[in-house]
Amino acid sequence: MIKTAVFPVAGKGTRFLPVTKVIPKEMIPLVDVPIIHYAIKEAVDSGVEKLIFINSKNKQSIINYLKRNYELEKFLENKGREDLIDLIKELPRKVEVVEVIQEEQLGLGHAVNLSSKHILKSELFAVLLGDEIIYSDKPALHQICQVANQYQGPTLGVVEVVNEEVQNYGVIDAEVLSEKTYKILGMVEKPNLDEAPSNLIVPGRYIFNYDIFNFLKNSATGVQGEYQLTDAINAQAKNENFYACLLEGERFDTGTPLGCLNATLEFSLNKPAMKEKVLEIMAEKIKKYS
Ligand code: UTP
Repeated sequence: MIKTAVFPVAGKGTRFLPVTKVIPKEMIPLVDVPIIHYAIKEAVDSGVEKLIFINSKNKQSIINYLKRNYELEKFLENKGREDLIDLIKELPRKVEVVEVIQEEQLGLGHAVNLSSKHILKSELFAVLLGDEIIYSDKPALHQICQVANQYQGPTLGVVEVVNEEVQNYGVIDAEVLSEKTYKILGMVEKPNLDEAPSNLIVPGRYIFNYDIFNFLKNSATGVQGEYQLTDAINAQAKNENFYACLLEGERFDTGTPLGCLNATLEFSLNKPAMKEKVLEIMAEKIKKYS
């Protein structure tokens, strides 16, 4: 069972400017729930108890979201709105939060490396990217945990994408072990289509052992001058057994305005109280713009 999860959230969110000048992209709402709520809930539903946020100084609202707000709870209690109290209390009650500040945004690999002193040498731990949502009855992290437990080794979640999309992600080279599990032979970051080893990309769900820190320490800056987590995974997979699990569920990459809009539409259509009205609005827009 995985008890610790790292959330690297210190990125600048440039694809979401100007709003990310003051609001972390992870806190942008999908209807009425901030994006990061989904990845946190996925971790908690998979058994995680300790969350380590690699954060930047001006993104404190993410940490505040996981604190109790006693004044608001009291206010809602006086109004008899116990239903809303549960909504704001659920996650803060279930998790222990540790914050590590990444002073300079030197890349995802650098961010993950900053968690090393909070991880036990003997434990497997998770890393989740908060702007990716895997919407599934079986929490994605739990699916990866099952494979990590079966093979007793580090394991990544992967999903299949169409050819045009491989150039935007970390892509694995892998050998099939069973219907949904692979042994990783290598990994490349944002390859051209003709160099991509497969269509299996890593949508921000990882289970590592402590060895990843050795490979992170030895990695150099790669694509865009940042320390790439992909390079460390590639090096580890070439030296040790490393696995991948094909994830069940619908994936939303909310790191761009269009991806966020897609997720917003999905989650609003999922709400029985909103569905009919949203469909009406969409039909009007289609008529107006097509
Ligand atoms: P992204 O590549 O999505 O970068 O980072 P970003 O800054 O969040 O967004 P854009 O590309 O500028 O629009 C992938 C993940 O790694 C984290 C980000 O917060 C995101 O969760 N990250 C990235 C860090 O924590 N530190 C870094 O130095 C870089």
